[in-house]
Amino acid sequence: MSKSALITGITGQDGAYLAKLLLEKGYKVHGLMARRGSDSLWRLRELGVERDVSLIDGDLTDVTSLIRAMEMARPQEVYNLGAQSFVGTSWSQPILTAQVTGVGAVNVLEAVRIVDAKARFYQASTSEMFGLIQAAKQDENTPFYPRSPYGVAKLMAHWATVNYRESFGLHASSGILFNHESPLRGPEFVTRKVTQAVARIKKGLQKELRLGNIDAQRDWGFAGDYVEAMWAMLQQDEASDYVVATGTTTTVRAMCEIAFKHVGLNYQDYVVIDPEFFRPAEVDILLGNPAKAKAGLGWEPKTSLEQLIAMMVDSDLRRLEVSGS
Ligand code: NAP
Ligand code: GDD
Repeated sequence: MSKSALITGITGQDGAYLAKLLLEKGYKVHGLMARRGSDSLWRLRELGVERDVSLIDGDLTDVTSLIRAMEMARPQEVYNLGAQSFVGTSWSQPILTAQVTGVGAVNVLEAVRIVDAKARFYQASTSEMFGLIQAAKQDENTPFYPRSPYGVAKLMAHWATVNYRESFGLHASSGILFNHESPLRGPEFVTRKVTQAVARIKKGLQKELRLGNIDAQRDWGFAGDYVEAMWAMLQQDEASDYVVATGTTTTVRAMCEIAFKHVGLNYQDYVVIDPEFFRPAEVDILLGNPAKAKAGLGWEPKTSLEQLIAMMVDSDLRRLEVSGS
């Protein structure tokens, strides 16, 4: 009998890559889908798995829809990837972010506990929880200091995951993932904003790229590599928390340089600093130590930042060639 999995956030970047991975492993994949006016299935379509997943209507803020989804999917594994995940928006919509990203995770944990407490649970935790970093290299023992309403909401979800493990014995694991990107990244995030702009500038469709704090540093990896760590966590006998990162950090400035250079351009000729994109509180630098994931899960990143950015720029160039604008 093949295993069944339920993914919240299946229409997002990670949801699409995880769905593909689980399908390749022979799982029956169910995805919770919030009703939207726009086409939210484009990522699943790009990966060629749109027709292979079963979509269930539901919303993280409606626990009854989550209970119903658990009853319909009867999953052995539940991946909670759904969230209001854009840090910038979390200052303008802090309550929504708290409800979806924080309380939403508790709703999923409750649905698991009520319907099938044996189902294994994965929480999409984040390096944003480290915020104002308390150690030069962050690992599972580094104290948290969130710097955005998003980070605060994620911290609630993280501790709820730990608490349900300790209170009810749920097999609940938290993946503390550092930034991970791909051609399926939303255009509001800085890597995709840059690669989309590079493609448009190269094609003569855009003249400049307006950015905020380009001195910020991030530990960037490839989403396709990171979903493998999520799956590996739920295959362990004991649930636990793991940092998933590359172990190198790069400025937004240097990432821009890589992206523009890939098409033979100099970023300094196009990047304009715009105060609109600065945040009320910044996470200046993130750098993860993935030693526990390597030792415990046998997980290592396979894609360098140069390969990742080249993949994203090439994909944005291809999309422009197809659409023409
Ligand atoms: P993403 O592309 O923004 O996807 C978020 C998903 O959540 C989308 O499918 C979205 O649906 C769904 N969603 C939003 N509000 C919802 C609601 N009220 N009910 C149900 N679903 C809802 O994010 P991602 O990059 O794939 O990240 C996946 C998860 O990992 C998120 O929880 C994120 O916070 C976390 N994370 C990401 C990173 C990273 O660098 N990518 C790092 C650490 C942690 P729609 O498409 O319909 O809006
Ligand atoms: N988005 C954006 N747009 N960011 C900019 C810009 C800009 O124009 N200019 C500079 N930045 C800087 C931000 O201030 C931040 O320091 C950095 O680029 C990365 O921003 P994002 O790509 O928006 O990602 P993030 O680090 O805030 O959050 C992402 O990673 C987290 C993990 O650390 C998201 O995926 C979160 O959901 C995730 O938890």
